[in-house]
Amino acid sequence: MSTIALITGANSGLGLATAQALAHKGFDLIFLVRSREKGEQARKQILEKTPQARIDLFFADLTNMDSIRQVCQQIHQKYDRLDCLINNAGYAPAQLEFTRDGYEKSFVANHLGHFLLTLELIDLLKASGKGRIINLSSAAHAMGKSRRFFLKHNSKMNIWSAYGDGKLANLLFTVALANRLKGQNVSAYAVHPGVVNTQFGRNFTDWWKYGFGFLRPFMITTEEGAQTSIYLATADLPESYNGGYFSKSKPARILNKDVNDYNAQLLWKRSEEALGERWML
Ligand SMILES: NC(=O)c1ccc[n+]([C@@H]2O[C@H](COP(=O)([O-])OP(=O)(O)OC[C@H]3O[C@@H](n4cnc5c(N)ncnc54)[C@H](OP(=O)(O)O)[C@@H]3O)[C@@H](O)[C@H]2O)c1
Repeated sequence: MSTIALITGANSGLGLATAQALAHKGFDLIFLVRSREKGEQARKQILEKTPQARIDLFFADLTNMDSIRQVCQQIHQKYDRLDCLINNAGYAPAQLEFTRDGYEKSFVANHLGHFLLTLELIDLLKASGKGRIINLSSAAHAMGKSRRFFLKHNSKMNIWSAYGDGKLANLLFTVALANRLKGQNVSAYAVHPGVVNTQFGRNFTDWWKYGFGFLRPFMITTEEGAQTSIYLATADLPESYNGGYFSKSKPARILNKDVNDYNAQLLWKRSEEALGERWML
């Protein structure tokens, strides 16, 4: 029986490199992307190198909760199990934007959209009997503050604190999942991929644009950056790794004192309130 992995943001950067490697290892892949054109292009690129790859495309924007609920229904119609969910899509905003509900948009894409996606697919991960959830966080979680989560139109925020909050939430969500899913054969891991030359930061303007441009030649490649996600998707992992944070394919030091069970539980509760829905795992 083949292993089925769903990757968000599989059309670009780390998502594409992870998809390429997993296709090569014989995984069946589900791409969750927001652009049909970019998704088709990525699938074509992988098939050129791995002609036997099986890749299904589904579409949703992670800031649009209706589109996520809809796509999860479509996935349920086609699949009765999911072995690996890689919550990879994400970005740092060039400027702060807020959703109609007043939440900062990158936080919604980086955390809340993936929160909803994961919980809407949790039955499929449980059905796998060995489900894995891999959340792309970042060392930038160090800049996050849990007290800022879900503050509406927060004037004290800047683009890096907003990104840090999202990446801190990815880590706390991982902790919360591991706590809640204990004994249910689904485990969760958070990743810092390194500083990787992808499309990340290409939306920046002014100083950040030039700063990032200058640093690009020193960044690692997408193939190198994808290694930790690939490791967590494929290796035999000890139970003690469940809920952990990983870089360079090994446990890494958490850089933020806000990472604890209390904040993980609080994030869960606030995420449910923002979505107007509760999940019992
Ligand atoms: N690159 C780094 O140095 C670095 C370091 C630490 C962590 N990370 C994390 O690694 C992950 C992958 O980033 P990357 O570096 O590979 O960047 P990337 O090349 O820019 O890829 C980001 C992916 O996320 C998708 N995406 C963004 N907003 C979305 C939304 N609202 N709905 C659906 N998809 C959306 C993008 O889709 P489109 O192509 O349609 O825009 C793209 O496929 C991110 O979570 C990032 O925070 C990256």
